Amino acid sequence: KKVVLAYSGGLDTSIILKWLQTEYGCEVVTFTADLGQGEELEPAREKAIMLGIKPENIFIEDLREEFVRDYVNPMFRANTVYEGQYLLGTSIARPLISKRLVEIAEATGADAVAHGATGKGNDQVRFELACYALNPEIKVIAPWREWDLTSRTKLIDFAEKNQIPIARDKRGEAPFSVDANLLHTSSEGKVLEDPAEMAPDYVFQRTDNPVTAPDEPEYIEVTFDKGDAVAIDGKAVTPAEMLTKLNELGKKHGIGRLDFVENRFVGMKSRGIYETPGGTILLEAHRGIEQITLDSGAGHLKDSLMPRYAEIIYNGFWFSPEREMLQALIDKSQEHVTGTVRLQLFKGSVFCVGRWSDHSLYSEAHVTFEDDAGAYDQKDAAGFIQLNALRLKLLATRNRRLK
Ligand code: ARG
Ligand code: SIN
Repeated sequence: KKVVLAYSGGLDTSIILKWLQTEYGCEVVTFTADLGQGEELEPAREKAIMLGIKPENIFIEDLREEFVRDYVNPMFRANTVYEGQYLLGTSIARPLISKRLVEIAEATGADAVAHGATGKGNDQVRFELACYALNPEIKVIAPWREWDLTSRTKLIDFAEKNQIPIARDKRGEAPFSVDANLLHTSSEGKVLEDPAEMAPDYVFQRTDNPVTAPDEPEYIEVTFDKGDAVAIDGKAVTPAEMLTKLNELGKKHGIGRLDFVENRFVGMKSRGIYETPGGTILLEAHRGIEQITLDSGAGHLKDSLMPRYAEIIYNGFWFSPEREMLQALIDKSQEHVTGTVRLQLFKGSVFCVGRWSDHSLYSEAHVTFEDDAGAYDQKDAAGFIQLNALRLKLLATRNRRLK
């Protein structure tokens, strides 16, 4: 039996690795992805070797460009937010990890994949739905749902018994649970579990405090091509470079913090702290360029579908016909979403303060408060209002009659 494990190199997945070897009797293949979480990956290789993984069974890959190009960017074309606020930083990374797990399983002749998500969360659902969508025969092992290592103490005992090194700060309870990638860092659990209690400062890891952020605003320009950001201040950037650069700017100005209670797919509510510095800037920028390039009918339709699209991604149905159908509609809407916006970054906020485009639908000739030289006949509006008012008048007449 052979299993491909989504391996971070951290304590929990190292324990899972050992557990798969000893309790399951599996040959383990490890897969560690660089999604921009800002951690060295070589230690994960050394640790895997130390835990007895054959070098040819260790897969370490830089997926940053693919992550932003094929997952983050398509999602941002829809201005996607879950329950009004969450930018889906964890949700959108799971399909890509799952895709590589399945591909590596097929390449190495493994019949199963394993992940370190608990039985209480969304991530187990996302990993597994994506894996089954890509390979209906694949087996999934979710140790958190199976083993009897139900407390931190049992976990540490198991690690010690199996010579798994434990970092000092991991001996006690970890202060909270973190997931990070180029788009966001999420923190949940432990000190954050009481939603009435303000998150302590040390929870925030990738944004400076807006209170102490620079007192001078900073201005940048972001250029879009068919809905995707392709240049910053006139300089062409790759998808991952774009998000990396916006993350730096967002960090400095304390942009993209969120303290949020959400509804998990499995039914419970959970409180998380999210930091999405670059993504928050990108969302404002994208909305800014859509304001002048998107037709109102097209814009209102895609906006009305966005919550459904967000829920599909949140619930783990990235690889589904309904997501692909919505994506086709969203992508079609972006044909003319090309142009540049100017943004002001200041103490936790990002404002679009200017936008221009060869594809603009904005007509100053029509909208001006000054003399429009015949572009628009104000008299046309009288009939427009009379016909729109007709049914309102009939209703009001009926209501007066019956009063
Ligand atoms: N609640 C967020 C979501 O469902 C973040 C999950 C974080 N996952 C983790 N393994 N720490 O998308
Ligand atoms: C987990 O349960 O592994 C993390 C939280 C989540 O998936 O929602």
